This record gives sequence, structure tokens and C-alpha cells, in this order.
Amino acid sequence: MKFYRLTPQQRRDVLVKQGIELDKIDAATLNQLNQLSENVVGELRLPVGLVQNLLVNGHSYWVPMATEEPSVVAAANHGSNIFSKCGGVIAQSKRQGIYGQIVLQVTTDFRPESLREQFPQLINLANREFASLVKHGGGVKEIEMRQEDELVYLQVLVDPAEAMGANKVNAIVEFLADQLAKMPEVNSKLFAILSNYPSQLTTAQVKLPVNAVGGAEVADKIALLSKIGQHDVYRAVTNNKGIMNGVNAVLMATGNDERAVAAASGVLASQSGQYTSLSKWEVQGDYLSGELTLPLAIGTVGGSIKTRADVQQNYRILGEKITAAELADVIAAVGLANNLAALLAITTDGIQEGHMKLQARNLVANLSATAQEKKQVLHLLTQNREYSEAAASKFLHQVRERED
Ligand code: MEV
Repeated sequence: MKFYRLTPQQRRDVLVKQGIELDKIDAATLNQLNQLSENVVGELRLPVGLVQNLLVNGHSYWVPMATEEPSVVAAANHGSNIFSKCGGVIAQSKRQGIYGQIVLQVTTDFRPESLREQFPQLINLANREFASLVKHGGGVKEIEMRQEDELVYLQVLVDPAEAMGANKVNAIVEFLADQLAKMPEVNSKLFAILSNYPSQLTTAQVKLPVNAVGGAEVADKIALLSKIGQHDVYRAVTNNKGIMNGVNAVLMATGNDERAVAAASGVLASQSGQYTSLSKWEVQGDYLSGELTLPLAIGTVGGSIKTRADVQQNYRILGEKITAAELADVIAAVGLANNLAALLAITTDGIQEGHMKLQARNLVANLSATAQEKKQVLHLLTQNREYSEAAASKFLHQVRERED
């Protein structure tokens, strides 16, 4: 039988027969996961850490972050703490919609103006066909067009209401493409699919007294580092990776499509023709101002969001009534918090100090030792700034010698 037709347990048996050792998983969990994906044989678990009291638009949130990297959660909390003491983050999500794209092959008789005249009717037709989306507050908003020789490109802007909207947009553009293909001047519809072009833009801003980041000298260094990221691609991409550390972890925790956000963010960062930092930090008088704009095609419903108990728990932590716009505000605020924490670390102690302290916990976790011994080894690793498996073994040996 084809592998994909087997039950998950049968698939696991195939792997075990090949000599692959598999972790235990209970049948109920395995069958649940099998509903979510394809060719399922197991699970990959991630810790969920929290950002405590992230203040956004005057509302304090507990924000779940799904990541295996401790410094990401620590950095988000560090940045968030500074923001909260300075009035919090002001964020704005306009949720203008996401794009669908249709590309048609047309004959030489094709006249763009005559198709453009039909856009209002096409929008109405789609909104009647997808009336449930309109009932939820969304719908097709706008169609734009350009022609390159025999190819006509249509961008269809769709408001997906509270969802991310990928499936709905695909259905809408396929429906519209079928209508357009009936026109005698259209030879064929080449394709009709969602575009991950940057949309659903969210901007988060903070204004911090320079003393909140350690004084004018540190604030100046942060602004200089940010300026370098505006034109130096080596720095820009690393700056943006620090932002995505936080953004991705919240996207994962809330069941959102982090691949779509990553793809769109790369385009947004390159929109001036040169890849640049997504954030900007400037000193204005006694204040350090920070701003970050992200394309956040996210939702609070749709996909697997409602069916995954692990994700639903995270919505209860965030506040079950949270809207997609509010969640986007929170995600952008976390990105800015991670960004500030990274810039602070780089301009002061260096990044390695904090990272290694957190990594020391992993080294200690792998030791076969008692809880008390692990605690003492952790202390010795950080005190001596030695962060390696060899150092952990050496200190465990010392601790045990002292105990004897
Ligand atoms: C590491 O995961 C992220 C940083 O490199 C980001 C940055 O340099 O801004 C610390």
C-alpha cells in the first residue's frame, strides 16, 4: 500500500522495521496529528514561553512565544519591560487586505479600458458568490491591472476579515479567472492564486527617554547601528533576523503562517531597491524613537487555529476576544522589543554574554546529576564564563569532589 494510505502507526512500523528508533507517542495524539498533516509519523514539540505584560495601545498582554531558543523569550521580555515603563507601544494595523493574482493570456483585440470598466461588476459578482465572507466583514475590495505584451496581470485585493485568508483568496481568484476566461479576447487564464506580496501592514512605535536604555551614549550607539542597517546589507539582514526571532515565535504560538510573513518581510525590506532594516531607531532630543513596519497577513480564525488545543490555549493567554488587528499589533510590538533588546546587547555587553548564560542551562540539563549538583554547575559555568560540555563535566567533577 502507498505510504500515505497507511495509518500513522503503520507508517511508524515501516520506519522501525528499517531500524530507526522512534520516540513514544500515545495513539490518541498520533491520530489527532494525523488529521492536521500528511504522512504523519510523530510530533515535534516546542516550549511555549511568555512575555509578561507587553503594553500595546494601553492594553497589557501576556504573549505566548513558541521557540526552543531561550534568549528569544528573554530578549522579548527585556524589551517589553523597557517599553512598559515608558508608556508602552503605539501600534496600528490597517488590515487593508491581502492580494490574489490572476494572469491572463490575451489576443491582440484585448482593450484594457473595456476590462477596467467591468471591475465594479466583477467585484459585485465575487462578493455575491462569497457572501459569507462579506457577512463576516470582509470581501473583494479592489482590482488593479497592468498589461505586458500578451500577458495581463490582475491584482485582486481581498479583505479576509478575521482570517489570514489564503484559502478564501485562492477560491475568489479562481472564480474570477473563470469569469474572465469567458471573454473572447482572453486566450487562456495562465494562473490564479494568492500573492504573498506585502500587505496587512502593521506599524509599531515607541518613544523612550534615553535614560531608559542606559543614557545618551547608548541611545546614540543604537541609532548609529540602526543607520548602518539602513544601507549595509550584512547588518540589515541580521537586524531583521532579530526582529523575526520574536515575530516568528508568536506566529507559531498562534497557529499563523510564519512562512508567508517571512516571505513578505523579505520583499518589504527590499522595496526601495536595496535590502534594508525593517526597523528604524533615531535619537530626537532626550528620546530614542523606534519604529517597525511589518507585513502581517495573519488571522485569529481559519486554517488549523480552532482545531488545535495547543494553539487555543495560547489564545486564552492572549485574551480570547483578541482580534486579528490587535494580534498583529502585539506581534509587531514583540518584534520591536526583540530588536531593541538585541541592539542594547550589541552596543553594551555584546550578544554572546547573555546568550551563553542561557545556553548554560542546556549544558546542565544534559548532565546525569542531581538537581542540587546541576544548580552548582550552572553557577560555576556562569561565574567562570566557561560554556562548553567539557567545562560542565569538569565542574560536575569538582562539585562531587567537594561533596566527598
Ligand atoms: C540573534 O538571534 C539575533 C541578533 O543577531 C539580532 C541582531 O543582531 O540585531 C542578536
